[in-house]
Amino acid sequence: MTSSFHEMWEELRPLGRDSSSGGYRRYAWTGADADCRAWFRAQAEARGLSYELDRNGNQWAWLGATGYQDVAPGDAVVTGSHLDSVPDGGAYDGPLGVVSSFAALDELRSRGAEFGKPLAIVNFGDEEGARFGLACVGSRLAAGALTTEAAHQLRDGDGTTLPQAMERAGYDPEAIGPDPERLARIGAFVELHVEQGRALDLSGDAVGIASAIWPHGRWRFDFHGEANHAGTTRLDDRRDPMLSYAATVLAAREQARLAGALATFGKISVEPNGVNAIPSLVRGWLDSRAADQETLDTVITGIERAAAERAARDGVDLTVVRESFTPVVEFQHALRDELSAILGKTGERAVPVLGTGAGHDAGILSGTVPTAMLFVRNPTGVSHSPAEAADEDDCVAGVTALADVLEGLACH
Ligand code: GLV
Ligand code: MN
Ligand code: MN
Repeated sequence: MTSSFHEMWEELRPLGRDSSSGGYRRYAWTGADADCRAWFRAQAEARGLSYELDRNGNQWAWLGATGYQDVAPGDAVVTGSHLDSVPDGGAYDGPLGVVSSFAALDELRSRGAEFGKPLAIVNFGDEEGARFGLACVGSRLAAGALTTEAAHQLRDGDGTTLPQAMERAGYDPEAIGPDPERLARIGAFVELHVEQGRALDLSGDAVGIASAIWPHGRWRFDFHGEANHAGTTRLDDRRDPMLSYAATVLAAREQARLAGALATFGKISVEPNGVNAIPSLVRGWLDSRAADQETLDTVITGIERAAAERAARDGVDLTVVRESFTPVVEFQHALRDELSAILGKTGERAVPVLGTGAGHDAGILSGTVPTAMLFVRNPTGVSHSPAEAADEDDCVAGVTALADVLEGLACH
């Protein structure tokens, strides 16, 4: 099993990697995405699994069925994650779950496991939302949490729409939409993921089980000012949106600190983007997350108020648009307890249960399907960065844990 994990990892490693930053740029419906998808399909076929591409561009590899139509409602056990990345992302966020799924299947086969239920491995499309601004597009569409009409309106930074990008990649954008029949076949979805914090490092455990995902969302702040000459416009005559934006970044930090929440402006675009011109427009994207909805609402209201006050002082017009939102996710207790029981059998002590501020396809599906997550220790906690890491021994421990879970769920 170690060798199957290692081999797959090495094969996937160069795909979509930028040679100067060392980070991954695997954005939805690009060439790098196509390479990752071809890799997935080849892994499925090499194992004699039935390959299926769903209406939303998610890839499925089935054991014990030729596709979801063969499966009785609630019968399938599904595992997997995503292969796309944030800009200059790390190697593990997403791919660890997909590679571990194939390696866990190899492990189960080498154990001689007999499957009583159909098993599927899935690669969800566009989990990070790096290109079109909305995370978990593949799972949201399937679950009906994103309508076909809204998805058709999504645009990347160059103005290319999602349908155009899908069409250029050879997919039919008219087919996208809710997939309730498919989801109804799933009795359990288990996503393994690299931890994106240091809880497991601190507790000294290689593997943990997820309890909940914080509510989180993305808001776009457009500050409209007036372009003018940087060398000749008196300070008092300026309508400078960069000032309003800068004050809003500081206010976001302050609101988050006071509430024990998180708020990040990680993306910005400036027009006309000239060194010697006062900007006409500064557009900043806020990502904010908190342990509960009320706290998140308080933080966002506070940031919006501070932004509006500062914009009024600067003579700047402000619009705020909520681009996406995911409510709190509490993973199903029954499945979580089942995982604890399965993994508790082999270890000397209970497997830790931990929450996270990171979003996942498992969170989106949790409203429709019983879902659970396994986390693998990240020694630095760094994620969404080329420095993201996990020890191979821990990855192998993750594969063993996933194999135990799948055996417990699908082989009795
Ligand atoms: C996805 O990784 C997110 O939490 O933004
Ligand atoms: Mn991520
Ligand atoms: Mn992820």
